[in-house]
Amino acid sequence: MSFPLTDRHDRTHRSLRISIVDKCDLRCTYCMPEDQHFLKREELMTREEIATIARLLVERYGITKVRLTGGEPLVRPDAVDIVRDIAHLGVPLGLTTNALTLHKHLDGLIDAGLRSLNVSLDTFDAERFRKITRRDGYDVVWANIQEAHRRGLRVKLNMVVMRGVNHDEILRFVELTRDHDIHVRFIEFMPFAGNHWGRERVYTYAEMLGHIGSVHSFEKLTDDPHSTAKAYRVPGWKGTFAVISTVTEPFCGTCDRLRVTAEGKMRNCLFAREETDLLSALRRGEDIAPLIEANVLAKHAMLGGLPPFKPEKQEEVLHDLSERPMVAIGG
Ligand code: 5AD
Ligand code: SF4
Repeated sequence: MSFPLTDRHDRTHRSLRISIVDKCDLRCTYCMPEDQHFLKREELMTREEIATIARLLVERYGITKVRLTGGEPLVRPDAVDIVRDIAHLGVPLGLTTNALTLHKHLDGLIDAGLRSLNVSLDTFDAERFRKITRRDGYDVVWANIQEAHRRGLRVKLNMVVMRGVNHDEILRFVELTRDHDIHVRFIEFMPFAGNHWGRERVYTYAEMLGHIGSVHSFEKLTDDPHSTAKAYRVPGWKGTFAVISTVTEPFCGTCDRLRVTAEGKMRNCLFAREETDLLSALRRGEDIAPLIEANVLAKHAMLGGLPPFKPEKQEEVLHDLSERPMVAIGG
Protein backbone atom coordinates (compact mmCIF):
# COMPACT_ATOMS: atom_id res chain seq x y z
CA MET A 1 0.00 0.00 0.00
CA SER A 2 1.13 3.53 -0.54
CA PHE A 3 -0.41 6.69 0.75
CA PRO A 4 -3.59 7.77 -0.96
CA LEU A 5 -3.24 11.49 -0.81
CA THR A 6 -5.77 14.24 -0.70
CA ASP A 7 -7.49 15.52 -3.79
CA ARG A 8 -5.03 18.39 -3.71
CA HIS A 9 -2.07 16.04 -3.90
CA ASP A 10 -2.16 13.43 -6.54
CA ARG A 11 1.05 11.76 -5.50
CA THR A 12 2.51 9.18 -3.20
CA HIS A 13 5.05 9.54 -0.46
CA ARG A 14 8.03 7.29 -0.98
CA SER A 15 11.00 8.91 0.60
CA LEU A 16 11.60 9.12 4.34
CA ARG A 17 14.08 11.25 6.31
CA ILE A 18 14.62 10.20 9.89
CA SER A 19 16.60 12.44 12.20
CA ILE A 20 18.31 10.32 14.83
CA VAL A 21 19.71 13.15 16.97
CA ASP A 22 19.24 16.92 17.11
CA LYS A 23 22.79 17.75 18.23
CA CYS A 24 25.66 18.62 15.97
CA ASP A 25 29.42 18.95 16.35
CA LEU A 26 29.37 21.93 13.97
CA ARG A 27 27.10 24.95 14.32
CA CYS A 28 26.42 26.21 10.83
CA THR A 29 24.94 29.68 10.90
CA TYR A 30 22.28 28.79 8.32
CA CYS A 31 21.12 25.82 10.33
CA MET A 32 21.53 26.36 14.04
CA PRO A 33 20.93 29.41 16.25
CA GLU A 34 23.81 30.25 18.59
CA ASP A 35 21.79 29.41 21.71
CA GLN A 36 20.25 26.15 20.49
CA HIS A 37 19.08 23.77 23.23
CA PHE A 38 19.24 20.07 22.60
CA LEU A 39 16.96 17.23 23.58
CA LYS A 40 17.70 15.03 26.55
CA ARG A 41 18.62 11.47 25.81
CA GLU A 42 15.32 10.05 27.02
CA GLU A 43 13.48 12.39 24.65
CA LEU A 44 15.21 10.91 21.61
CA MET A 45 13.85 7.85 19.85
CA THR A 46 15.77 4.76 20.86
CA ARG A 47 17.43 2.58 18.28
CA GLU A 48 14.51 0.15 18.55
CA GLU A 49 11.89 2.89 18.20
CA ILE A 50 13.60 4.21 15.08
CA ALA A 51 13.56 0.72 13.56
CA THR A 52 9.89 0.22 14.48
CA ILE A 53 8.76 3.47 12.88
CA ALA A 54 10.92 2.96 9.79
CA ARG A 55 9.74 -0.62 9.35
CA LEU A 56 6.10 0.40 9.53
CA LEU A 57 6.61 3.12 6.95
CA VAL A 58 8.50 0.83 4.60
CA GLU A 59 6.38 -2.28 4.92
CA ARG A 60 2.94 -0.76 5.22
CA TYR A 61 3.18 2.55 3.41
CA GLY A 62 5.50 1.80 0.54
CA ILE A 63 8.45 3.98 1.48
CA THR A 64 11.22 3.07 -0.97
CA LYS A 65 14.11 5.26 0.21
CA VAL A 66 15.35 6.14 3.66
CA ARG A 67 17.85 8.79 4.64
CA LEU A 68 19.20 9.19 8.17
CA THR A 69 19.94 12.74 9.25
CA GLY A 70 20.55 14.84 12.36
CA GLY A 71 21.72 17.36 13.57
CA GLU A 72 24.76 15.27 12.90
CA PRO A 73 23.83 11.58 12.96
CA LEU A 74 27.37 10.45 13.76
CA VAL A 75 27.37 12.17 17.18
CA ARG A 76 24.99 9.46 18.29
CA PRO A 77 26.98 6.53 19.78
CA ASP A 78 24.72 3.91 18.20
CA ALA A 79 24.59 5.54 14.75
CA VAL A 80 26.27 2.60 13.01
CA ASP A 81 23.85 0.13 14.65
CA ILE A 82 20.93 2.23 13.47
CA VAL A 83 22.35 2.22 9.94
CA ARG A 84 22.60 -1.57 10.11
CA ASP A 85 18.99 -1.92 11.33
CA ILE A 86 17.64 0.30 8.57
CA ALA A 87 19.82 -1.31 5.90
CA HIS A 88 18.13 -4.60 6.84
CA LEU A 89 14.81 -3.18 5.70
CA GLY A 90 16.15 -3.67 2.20
CA VAL A 91 15.45 -0.25 0.70
CA PRO A 92 18.19 2.15 -0.45
CA LEU A 93 19.62 3.97 2.52
CA GLY A 94 21.57 7.22 2.69
CA LEU A 95 23.12 9.26 5.46
CA THR A 96 23.54 13.02 5.63
CA THR A 97 26.63 14.03 7.56
CA ASN A 98 29.08 16.89 8.02
CA ALA A 99 31.90 14.30 7.81
CA LEU A 100 33.74 15.76 10.80
CA THR A 101 34.13 12.37 12.51
CA LEU A 102 33.57 10.19 9.47
CA HIS A 103 37.09 8.68 9.69
CA LYS A 104 36.06 7.02 12.96
CA HIS A 105 32.96 5.43 11.49
CA LEU A 106 33.65 4.78 7.82
CA ASP A 107 34.55 1.08 8.13
CA GLY A 108 31.56 0.46 10.40
CA LEU A 109 29.16 2.30 8.10
CA ILE A 110 30.30 0.42 5.01
CA ASP A 111 30.12 -2.87 6.89
CA ALA A 112 26.63 -1.96 8.08
CA GLY A 113 25.49 -1.61 4.48
CA LEU A 114 25.71 2.11 3.79
CA ARG A 115 26.41 2.90 0.12
CA SER A 116 25.60 6.56 -0.18
CA LEU A 117 26.54 9.72 1.71
CA ASN A 118 25.35 13.31 1.48
CA VAL A 119 27.98 15.58 2.94
CA SER A 120 27.46 19.23 3.79
CA LEU A 121 30.35 21.31 2.48
CA ASP A 122 29.98 25.00 1.77
CA THR A 123 33.52 26.14 1.09
CA PHE A 124 37.05 25.04 0.22
CA ASP A 125 38.56 27.72 2.42
CA ALA A 126 39.49 26.74 5.99
CA GLU A 127 38.92 30.20 7.44
CA ARG A 128 35.58 30.56 5.71
CA PHE A 129 34.64 27.09 6.93
CA ARG A 130 35.27 28.29 10.48
CA LYS A 131 33.06 31.34 9.95
CA ILE A 132 30.20 29.36 8.48
CA THR A 133 30.32 26.39 10.86
CA ARG A 134 31.61 28.27 13.94
CA ARG A 135 34.19 25.48 14.36
CA ASP A 136 37.48 24.39 12.83
CA GLY A 137 37.48 21.27 10.78
CA TYR A 138 37.88 21.96 7.09
CA ASP A 139 40.99 19.79 6.64
CA VAL A 140 39.56 16.73 8.31
CA VAL A 141 36.19 17.11 6.59
CA TRP A 142 37.76 17.38 3.15
CA ALA A 143 40.10 14.43 3.83
CA ASN A 144 37.11 12.36 4.98
CA ILE A 145 35.09 13.22 1.90
CA GLN A 146 37.93 12.11 -0.37
CA GLU A 147 38.39 8.91 1.60
CA ALA A 148 34.68 8.05 1.45
CA HIS A 149 34.75 8.57 -2.30
CA ARG A 150 37.91 6.49 -2.64
CA ARG A 151 36.25 3.69 -0.68
CA GLY A 152 33.46 3.54 -3.24
CA LEU A 153 30.63 5.33 -1.49
CA ARG A 154 28.39 7.40 -3.72
CA VAL A 155 29.07 10.96 -2.53
CA LYS A 156 26.82 13.97 -2.90
CA LEU A 157 28.11 17.32 -1.65
CA ASN A 158 25.52 19.81 -0.43
CA MET A 159 26.58 23.44 -0.70
CA VAL A 160 24.24 26.03 0.78
CA VAL A 161 24.91 29.05 -1.43
CA MET A 162 24.69 32.38 0.39
CA ARG A 163 25.23 35.66 -1.41
CA GLY A 164 28.32 37.43 -0.15
CA VAL A 165 29.38 34.42 1.91
CA ASN A 166 30.36 31.67 -0.52
CA HIS A 167 28.65 32.25 -3.86
CA ASP A 168 32.06 32.98 -5.40
CA GLU A 169 33.07 29.32 -4.89
CA ILE A 170 30.46 27.69 -7.07
CA LEU A 171 32.85 27.19 -9.98
CA ARG A 172 35.36 25.41 -7.76
CA PHE A 173 32.66 22.97 -6.76
CA VAL A 174 31.67 22.44 -10.38
CA GLU A 175 35.32 21.87 -11.31
CA LEU A 176 35.51 19.09 -8.78
CA THR A 177 33.19 17.10 -11.04
CA ARG A 178 35.72 17.14 -13.89
CA ASP A 179 37.78 14.23 -12.54
CA HIS A 180 35.63 12.91 -9.70
CA ASP A 181 32.41 11.00 -9.89
CA ILE A 182 30.97 13.31 -7.23
CA HIS A 183 27.55 14.91 -7.27
CA VAL A 184 27.48 18.51 -6.15
CA ARG A 185 24.20 20.14 -5.17
CA PHE A 186 23.87 23.89 -4.91
CA ILE A 187 21.06 24.69 -2.51
CA GLU A 188 19.32 28.05 -2.32
CA PHE A 189 19.57 29.46 1.19
CA MET A 190 16.28 28.62 2.92
CA PRO A 191 14.59 30.39 5.85
CA PHE A 192 14.48 28.58 9.20
CA ALA A 193 14.08 29.81 12.75
CA GLY A 194 17.12 31.75 13.92
CA ASN A 195 19.20 31.49 10.73
CA HIS A 196 19.33 35.18 9.72
CA TRP A 197 17.65 34.54 6.42
CA GLY A 198 16.92 37.43 4.12
CA ARG A 199 15.68 37.21 0.57
CA GLU A 200 18.63 39.35 -0.53
CA ARG A 201 21.03 36.73 0.81
CA VAL A 202 19.58 34.09 -1.50
CA TYR A 203 21.80 33.46 -4.52
CA THR A 204 19.16 32.15 -6.86
CA TYR A 205 19.41 29.01 -8.93
CA ALA A 206 19.08 31.13 -12.08
CA GLU A 207 22.09 33.14 -10.97
CA MET A 208 23.97 29.91 -10.21
CA LEU A 209 23.29 28.50 -13.67
CA GLY A 210 24.12 31.83 -15.32
CA HIS A 211 27.41 32.00 -13.48
CA ILE A 212 28.36 28.42 -14.31
CA GLY A 213 27.21 28.84 -17.91
CA SER A 214 29.44 31.89 -18.39
CA VAL A 215 32.43 29.55 -18.08
CA HIS A 216 31.31 26.01 -18.93
CA SER A 217 28.74 24.68 -21.30
CA PHE A 218 26.62 22.04 -19.63
CA GLU A 219 23.81 19.67 -20.48
CA LYS A 220 20.58 18.91 -18.63
CA LEU A 221 20.23 15.40 -17.23
CA THR A 222 16.92 13.64 -16.74
CA ASP A 223 15.63 14.11 -13.21
CA ASP A 224 13.78 11.54 -11.20
CA PRO A 225 10.10 12.64 -11.14
CA HIS A 226 10.26 13.28 -7.39
CA SER A 227 13.69 14.81 -7.34
CA THR A 228 14.07 18.15 -5.61
CA ALA A 229 17.21 18.84 -7.63
CA LYS A 230 17.64 19.82 -11.29
CA ALA A 231 20.75 17.96 -12.48
CA TYR A 232 23.36 18.88 -15.09
CA ARG A 233 26.71 17.72 -16.36
CA VAL A 234 29.58 19.35 -18.17
CA PRO A 235 29.88 17.00 -21.17
CA GLY A 236 32.68 14.51 -20.67
CA TRP A 237 33.13 15.24 -16.97
CA LYS A 238 32.83 12.42 -14.47
CA GLY A 239 30.56 13.97 -11.88
CA THR A 240 27.36 15.98 -12.05
CA PHE A 241 25.98 19.09 -10.42
CA ALA A 242 22.47 20.12 -9.52
CA VAL A 243 20.58 23.11 -8.23
CA ILE A 244 17.88 23.01 -5.57
CA SER A 245 15.52 25.91 -6.10
CA THR A 246 13.29 25.75 -3.02
CA VAL A 247 13.16 29.51 -2.57
CA THR A 248 12.73 30.89 -6.08
CA GLU A 249 11.04 27.91 -7.73
CA PRO A 250 9.54 25.53 -5.19
CA PHE A 251 8.85 21.98 -6.31
CA CYS A 252 6.28 21.10 -3.64
CA GLY A 253 3.90 19.56 -6.17
CA THR A 254 6.21 16.62 -6.80
CA CYS A 255 7.89 16.36 -3.40
CA ASP A 256 7.46 12.88 -1.94
CA ARG A 257 9.30 13.29 1.34
CA LEU A 258 8.13 12.51 4.83
CA ARG A 259 10.14 13.42 7.87
CA VAL A 260 10.45 12.16 11.41
CA THR A 261 12.34 14.29 13.94
CA ALA A 262 14.75 12.91 16.52
CA GLU A 263 12.01 12.98 19.17
CA GLY A 264 9.66 11.02 16.97
CA LYS A 265 7.45 13.77 15.57
CA MET A 266 6.28 13.37 12.03
CA ARG A 267 6.45 16.36 9.65
CA ASN A 268 4.93 16.32 6.18
CA CYS A 269 7.11 19.21 4.96
CA LEU A 270 10.42 20.87 5.77
CA PHE A 271 8.46 24.05 6.51
CA ALA A 272 5.57 22.38 8.33
CA ARG A 273 4.24 24.14 11.40
CA GLU A 274 2.22 21.22 12.63
CA GLU A 275 3.75 17.94 13.71
CA THR A 276 2.35 14.61 14.81
CA ASP A 277 3.81 13.01 17.90
CA LEU A 278 4.36 9.39 16.92
CA LEU A 279 6.77 8.53 19.70
CA SER A 280 4.49 9.29 22.66
CA ALA A 281 1.76 7.16 21.10
CA LEU A 282 4.23 4.37 20.41
CA ARG A 283 5.43 4.49 24.02
CA ARG A 284 1.84 4.25 25.22
CA GLY A 285 1.49 1.12 23.13
CA GLU A 286 -0.97 2.69 20.68
CA ASP A 287 -1.26 2.03 16.95
CA ILE A 288 0.54 4.88 15.19
CA ALA A 289 -0.79 4.11 11.70
CA PRO A 290 -3.83 6.45 11.99
CA LEU A 291 -1.52 9.25 13.15
CA ILE A 292 0.76 8.75 10.16
CA GLU A 293 -2.16 8.82 7.75
CA ALA A 294 -3.68 11.95 9.31
CA ASN A 295 -0.34 13.71 9.14
CA VAL A 296 0.09 12.97 5.43
CA LEU A 297 -3.45 14.04 4.61
CA ALA A 298 -2.93 17.37 6.36
CA LYS A 299 -0.08 18.36 4.08
CA HIS A 300 -0.29 21.87 2.65
CA ALA A 301 -0.03 22.33 -1.09
CA MET A 302 3.09 24.49 -0.84
CA LEU A 303 5.90 25.37 1.56
CA GLY A 304 4.06 24.06 4.60
CA GLY A 305 1.46 26.78 4.12
CA LEU A 306 3.96 29.64 4.28
CA PRO A 307 3.62 32.54 1.86
CA PRO A 308 5.82 32.29 -1.26
CA PHE A 309 9.44 33.24 -0.54
CA LYS A 310 9.22 36.47 -2.52
CA PRO A 311 10.96 39.69 -1.50
CA GLU A 312 7.64 41.42 -0.78
CA LYS A 313 6.56 38.56 1.49
CA GLN A 314 9.79 38.38 3.47
CA GLU A 315 8.37 39.79 6.73
CA GLU A 316 5.41 37.45 6.59
CA VAL A 317 7.63 34.43 5.92
CA LEU A 318 9.93 35.26 8.82
CA HIS A 319 6.94 35.81 11.10
CA ASP A 320 5.23 32.56 10.15
CA LEU A 321 8.22 30.21 10.20
CA SER A 322 8.10 27.05 12.26
CA GLU A 323 9.89 27.42 15.58
CA ARG A 324 12.18 24.57 14.71
CA PRO A 325 15.58 25.48 13.33
CA MET A 326 16.92 23.26 10.57
CA VAL A 327 19.26 21.41 12.93
CA ALA A 328 16.20 20.08 14.77
CA ILE A 329 14.31 19.14 11.61
CA GLY A 330 16.93 17.12 9.88
CA GLY A 331 17.11 18.05 6.22
N1 5AD B 1 19.18 26.41 3.52
C1 5AD B 1 19.49 25.46 2.62
N2 5AD B 1 19.99 24.27 2.94
C2 5AD B 1 20.20 24.03 4.24
N3 5AD B 1 20.71 22.95 4.86
C3 5AD B 1 20.72 23.19 6.19
N4 5AD B 1 20.22 24.42 6.44
C4 5AD B 1 19.90 24.95 5.23
C5 5AD B 1 19.37 26.20 4.83
N5 5AD B 1 19.06 27.15 5.71
C6 5AD B 1 21.18 21.77 4.14
C7 5AD B 1 22.58 21.38 4.51
C8 5AD B 1 22.51 19.92 4.77
C9 5AD B 1 21.13 19.54 4.36
C10 5AD B 1 20.54 18.51 5.24
O1 5AD B 1 20.36 20.69 4.45
O2 5AD B 1 23.42 21.56 3.42
O3 5AD B 1 23.45 19.22 4.01
FE1 SF4 C 1 25.26 20.65 11.66
FE2 SF4 C 1 24.59 19.97 9.26
FE3 SF4 C 1 23.28 21.79 10.54
FE4 SF4 C 1 25.66 22.32 9.75
S1 SF4 C 1 23.96 21.84 8.42
S2 SF4 C 1 24.86 22.78 11.80
S3 SF4 C 1 26.64 20.43 9.91
S4 SF4 C 1 23.35 19.69 11.07
